[in-house]
Amino acid sequence: TASVIIAPSILAGDFAALGAECRALAQAGAEWIHVDVMDGHFVPNLTFGPPMVKALRPHVAGRLDLHLMIAPVDPLLPAFLEAGPDSVTVHLEAGPHVHRTLRAIREAGRQAGLAINPGTDIGALRWLKDEIDLLCVMGVSPGFGGQTLIPATIAKIRALREMAPDLPIEVDGGVTAQNARALVEAGATVLVAGSAIFRGGPEAYGPNLRALQAAA
Ligand code: DX5
Ligand code: ZN
Repeated sequence: TASVIIAPSILAGDFAALGAECRALAQAGAEWIHVDVMDGHFVPNLTFGPPMVKALRPHVAGRLDLHLMIAPVDPLLPAFLEAGPDSVTVHLEAGPHVHRTLRAIREAGRQAGLAINPGTDIGALRWLKDEIDLLCVMGVSPGFGGQTLIPATIAKIRALREMAPDLPIEVDGGVTAQNARALVEAGATVLVAGSAIFRGGPEAYGPNLRALQAAA
């Protein structure tokens, strides 16, 4: 489906050459690049911090979609904002004051995103849907690429779409050409994909992106 956005997640890329990977993805047609920040506390993995995001910024021609899997968020938010992302997505589960954090992101002139883990209910969206520009539904337990989509994710997206008809809904984790159509039919408008895009090396990024776009 043409209107669906595919956002490659560089977590699956070559960490020794992430700038080149971002450029290769842009050349392959990626309009968004999904950047996964993990702190080894909120999730059991550790990727990189603000300096890396800042270094990647000039290599991301399109939207730098920053996904902060960190807790607490607020102490590091200014440094991540300074790095220049177009959108900053924070986890509902990362602390007691997500409303304040979302306001801070918008006050900095960026798109504010809210991410929810597989076990988190959607009730909070009733009180936060006007504070966000993007809802990120985790299709897997965050921390690692290459996992299998949790089947309940599809019903969850359908329920969220019901609650917020116009909100961009991003599904993150476990997206493949096999489940993309079901996710879009349920209401997803952005598909994050790591392993489905990075399989086969840089020359495969374009074909993988187009295959996923066509399947969705
Ligand atoms: C998981 C990350 C996802 C992950 C997606 O914690 O937030 O963005 O990189 O990777 P795949 O598409 O391989 O599940
Ligand atoms: Zn992510």
